[in-house]
Amino acid sequence: MSLETGDRGSTPRGLMPFRSLMSFRSLMSFQSSRPFRSLMSFQSLMSLSAMGQGPSYEPANWLTGRLADCMGTRLVRYLAQCGVASRRGAADLVQRGLVRVNGQVTTNVACQVRPGDQVICDGKPLAAPSETRVLLLHKPAGAVCSLRDPHNPRTVLDCLPPEMRAGLKPVGRLDKQTTGLLLLTDDGDLAFRLTHPRYKIPKTYRATVEGEVSDEAVSRLSEGVLLEDGPTAPADIRRVRYDAPRGQTVLDLRIHEGRNRQVRRMCEAVGCGVRRLARTEYGPLGLGRLKPGEYRVLTPAEVRHLRSAVGIDG
Ligand code: URA
Repeated sequence: MSLETGDRGSTPRGLMPFRSLMSFRSLMSFQSSRPFRSLMSFQSLMSLSAMGQGPSYEPANWLTGRLADCMGTRLVRYLAQCGVASRRGAADLVQRGLVRVNGQVTTNVACQVRPGDQVICDGKPLAAPSETRVLLLHKPAGAVCSLRDPHNPRTVLDCLPPEMRAGLKPVGRLDKQTTGLLLLTDDGDLAFRLTHPRYKIPKTYRATVEGEVSDEAVSRLSEGVLLEDGPTAPADIRRVRYDAPRGQTVLDLRIHEGRNRQVRRMCEAVGCGVRRLARTEYGPLGLGRLKPGEYRVLTPAEVRHLRSAVGIDG
């Protein structure tokens, strides 16, 4: 933790505090470190940029960003990235003395958290946000999974605080009226693999369907039914209960494909219209206590587990 740097939020980008420069210089003594390599590439990037071949960098902004990388992350940003609260909410927690960094209460919202620092918020130790961000959202009915849809103004990103949204995309899709477990990540490769049938990541859905579902219908669903885009793979189907007064059956369907409206179409293929549909599990992950509209950030261990399940880093 460092309490020495000023509030970068109040420093116009590009006007770097002198103290920051000094600490950057001392960091530079680690020649093999990331800041060193970053600075070495600075000149070449600048010349490419000047020739119009590279990304366009404003030197001062670029350098300020690099300094932010090597000096750590502001505490409120760190707390927001961990999914504790929005930045404003996190600032409030800090000012109320509810946050400890390396055992010390700090009320300084500008303090920097560095790799290896231990942060405890309201008595709970926080896992450091991982490089790959994955969020687990309990999608509410009515929110669409596309990022922009002129006909549906409410998207799943609207369930997240604005500072959490950058770069995140839903992993696959749930229909507008389907609720339940939706992952969002900024890692395109991970998202692609999680949704690719080759990796056979199981997804569990709870469907409330019309009428009483017969044994024969359950066997057909288990073995695979013929849809217009081909037969479905074998699936695990469990009849949870038949609700006679309402004339409906609750089913759990575990599938590892992810075709468009697949569960609804499977149920329709055996003569049962779906009244309600919720995804309850995605691979090893469940909804836990999250209510519709709530989300949490996956821990680094959970992200590692997901990545190795689809053959990344595993
Ligand atoms: N299957 C469906 O029919 N709809 C969903 O939203 C997800 C799976």
